[in-house]
Amino acid sequence: MVTSEATWNYRDRHADGFGRTYFRRFGDCIVSSIGLGTYLGDPTDAVDDSYHDSIVRALQSGINVVDTAINYRHGRSERVVGRALDDADVDRDAAVVATKGGFVPFDGERPDDPGEFVREEYVETGIVDSDDLVRGIHCLAPGFVDDQLDRSLANLALETIDCYYVHNPEFQLDERSREAVYEALEAAFARLEERAAAGDLRHYGVATWDAFRVTPDDPNHLSLPEVVSRARAAARTAGNDATHFRAVQLPFNVVMADAFTVAAHDGPDGPQSALRFAREAGLDVFVSAPLAQGRLANGLPEEVADRLDGETPAAKALTFARSGPGVTCALVGTSSPEHVVANVDSGRADAMGADAFDATFE
Ligand SMILES: NC(=O)c1ccc[n+]([C@@H]2O[C@H](COP(=O)([O-])OP(=O)(O)OC[C@H]3O[C@@H](n4cnc5c(N)ncnc54)[C@H](OP(=O)(O)O)[C@@H]3O)[C@@H](O)[C@H]2O)c1
Repeated sequence: MVTSEATWNYRDRHADGFGRTYFRRFGDCIVSSIGLGTYLGDPTDAVDDSYHDSIVRALQSGINVVDTAINYRHGRSERVVGRALDDADVDRDAAVVATKGGFVPFDGERPDDPGEFVREEYVETGIVDSDDLVRGIHCLAPGFVDDQLDRSLANLALETIDCYYVHNPEFQLDERSREAVYEALEAAFARLEERAAAGDLRHYGVATWDAFRVTPDDPNHLSLPEVVSRARAAARTAGNDATHFRAVQLPFNVVMADAFTVAAHDGPDGPQSALRFAREAGLDVFVSAPLAQGRLANGLPEEVADRLDGETPAAKALTFARSGPGVTCALVGTSSPEHVVANVDSGRADAMGADAFDATFE
């Protein structure tokens, strides 16, 4: 399990040469503001090997946050994270390992008949009640949460997951009312609180694509204050003194800055952006898609390119993402060790101050 002491030692070994706020607080730990994501890429041995080398390189050169999910590349991404953690010349307790559950995962490859696979592996075994499945592929039921957490621990070969996200809960809004989704989240959170008390995870959160950056009238909206209050209720149900809910993941980049610009969440003085609400609530924000899934590496919109420092469009885009007020870490996906080196290099520049950040929106 990640520990405060190991992360501070990691920082002391790696901080030289990085920008002033490159390492940031995450609870009692300290983490790099650039993390490594493992979403994209084919489910092949060759891509596994590239991810392995990228993760080892990242861990050994100043990145101590690794993000994955049980369904990424049909379980292969979790397994390669486990292998790389073992092979890297880095203390396991010095890195935050995050994963997610919610989408029913395949096992290594896409089966010929996905429906039959889900039926045989999950429904007939009693792990999932078919009524709890949304569009046949997404589930928040506590029994499923338990099963997925156990499988992730096995895939990652870890005793504890440092941050476990409920994956894209807004997917449930396709077939459920918002109130029903909050209820389902509270039940899932109660199970995660129990698993936290048992030492299987350290923190949990929600990873979203649309939920927190769209306006309240959007069908995909979920209210961050309501989600936080459900987590507090879940902690009480589980008999925990305080909630282990700590992190939010959402996309944030120069062409998708809604988490900063859209005031969608009720705060004490009226509606607030997701980033501002999270910061004031003491939550950590981990940003996904800082390069807009690779598109920004090919060039930034002209009106912002000149306002951002960096040698390349990718470096500028990363600097923007990790400069968002309240952002703990920008997770950049890469299975290329060369891109790891370039992304680490972008962390040698200081993040933008508030005035410079605001100026990119003028
Ligand atoms: N809802 C969710 O929970 C959610 C959704 C999306 C993503 N995520 C998480 O966030 C992470 C990041 O998002 P993402 O992977 O979707 O998108 P991203 O980080 O914006 O972009 C990844 C793409 O950029 C390329 N790239 C990376 N560094 C580069 C560089 N220096 N120069 C040129 N190209 C570069 C990668 O290709 P190479 O492999 O060739 O480097 C990859 O194709 C994911 O990996 C995942 O862990 C979560």
